[in-house]
Amino acid sequence: MHRPLIIALDFPSLSDAKGFLTDFGKEQLFVKVGMELYYQEGPSVIQFLKEQGHLIFLDLKLHDIPNTVYSSMKRLAELGVDLVNVHAAGGRKMMEAAREGLEAGTALGQSIPKCIAVTQLTSTTENVMRSELLIERNLLDVVVEYAALTKKSGLDGVVCSSLEVPVINNRLGTEFMTVTPGIRQASDAVGDQARVVTPEKARELGSTAIVVGRSITRANDPLQTYKQMKAAWEGVQV
Ligand code: C5P
Repeated sequence: MHRPLIIALDFPSLSDAKGFLTDFGKEQLFVKVGMELYYQEGPSVIQFLKEQGHLIFLDLKLHDIPNTVYSSMKRLAELGVDLVNVHAAGGRKMMEAAREGLEAGTALGQSIPKCIAVTQLTSTTENVMRSELLIERNLLDVVVEYAALTKKSGLDGVVCSSLEVPVINNRLGTEFMTVTPGIRQASDAVGDQARVVTPEKARELGSTAIVVGRSITRANDPLQTYKQMKAAWEGVQV
């Protein structure tokens, strides 16, 4: 799917996620399954979503020794998901192991899942990075350096704020994926996201994909809101 809008299925159970998806009928979606839903339901949630024809970003943010990440990624590739992620802070060997695990777990003739890295969590401020993580650099530099390490390690892109995309694209090229949460319609409540942009702005800034959760999942009319936000993201007039 070219430049997808990924819906974050942040629900406590598969039955809640199914309830939400009913409105969408047969529409093929790109959905994100995070820790909450996956830890509750396990692989059966992935199996269900695949049977419905949806593309899947399994957002488990792996961060462990290379050997463990290798074998875990092998298992995730066997599930047939389309996109997975790790923490870049795990380092180059860990990220290379992630890639190798995904290759090893992909059945012949299937596409290898794309793998992206989290640079710094959006909840980490520069102050926290300096005082708790003991990284004495400016936050944007760290994000861009971690993104460069991700690319060197053979991964496909990063999760980042849309506001960081121009600098990342400039340094690493537009083929390197930038998957950006923190998206709101102009009329929405911001919630706990500190820095948010509209789908139109994310497109202007050059994001490869946007991740939208509450703006759609908590909308009065989720399908209508999805269509509006998708059209805005794709630059289509409705
Ligand atoms: O509801 P909202 O649109 O804020 O949801 C954003 C989704 O993206 C959530 O699933 C959240 O966990 C995820 N995310 C994020 N910031 C990151 C990485 C992931 O908001 N840096």
